[in-house]
Amino acid sequence: MSIVTYVINVQDDEQRPTGERADSGLAEGDVTSLIGAARILPVVVLADPAGARPLADALIAGGLRTAEVTFRTAAAADAIAAMAANPGMLVGAGTVLTVDQVDRAVDAGARFVVSPGFGPAVVRRCQQLSVPVFPGVSSATEIQMALDAGLETVKFFPAEQLGGIGMVAALAAPFRSVRFIPTGGVNTANLADYLSNPAVLAVGGTWMVAPRLLDTGDWAEVTRLTRAAVDAARAITAP
Ligand code: 3PG
Repeated sequence: MSIVTYVINVQDDEQRPTGERADSGLAEGDVTSLIGAARILPVVVLADPAGARPLADALIAGGLRTAEVTFRTAAAADAIAAMAANPGMLVGAGTVLTVDQVDRAVDAGARFVVSPGFGPAVVRRCQQLSVPVFPGVSSATEIQMALDAGLETVKFFPAEQLGGIGMVAALAAPFRSVRFIPTGGVNTANLADYLSNPAVLAVGGTWMVAPRLLDTGDWAEVTRLTRAAVDAARAITAP
């Protein structure tokens, strides 16, 4: 599927029935473009996969069509499958620490993989499967490891604790081709600091999908927080 087809699917999804699995196989550049266009990557920790479908609907209602569903719960693969069944969503797997989790994520329909750190085996497996992978980095050395592996888009984690946008800017200076997805301590109040730096592709975080909202099924609040985040991101990216 080309990126044009995918974007048309995304734009038309409200008219489409749910439960229809879009085909996978988006190239890394396409996935990167879609995440960069969305500017925000919700980091989802779902305890109950039954929440996956209403969560996808709540995110879309708030104006977001991206999600990183983390392997921090046993529900991860089922949740990925349920969210990826929504043709309007671009769903990836997060907190992927092992090759087995890569395989389970891809089998479930994940279109990209995110790790908190740089794991060579995870990166290699993703590359074998032609699945875009965004490993986490926290230092210049880890960025060079990503570059050596042929990757130019990385998660920067944990962003606020590492020094926030100041650290991103310092790391971006020598690594001109690298784009960052800062995650960890990012929220609607500070996302503009990150997104106004051209080295930042998007920001990630849990703030609009906090586990307590998912556990209680407070989808209206997920939509409200998502809309606020999207509006804040649009305000700084508008020409
Ligand atoms: C992640 O795994 O990306 C982080 O736990 C998200 O951090 P946050 O909860 O501070 O947004």
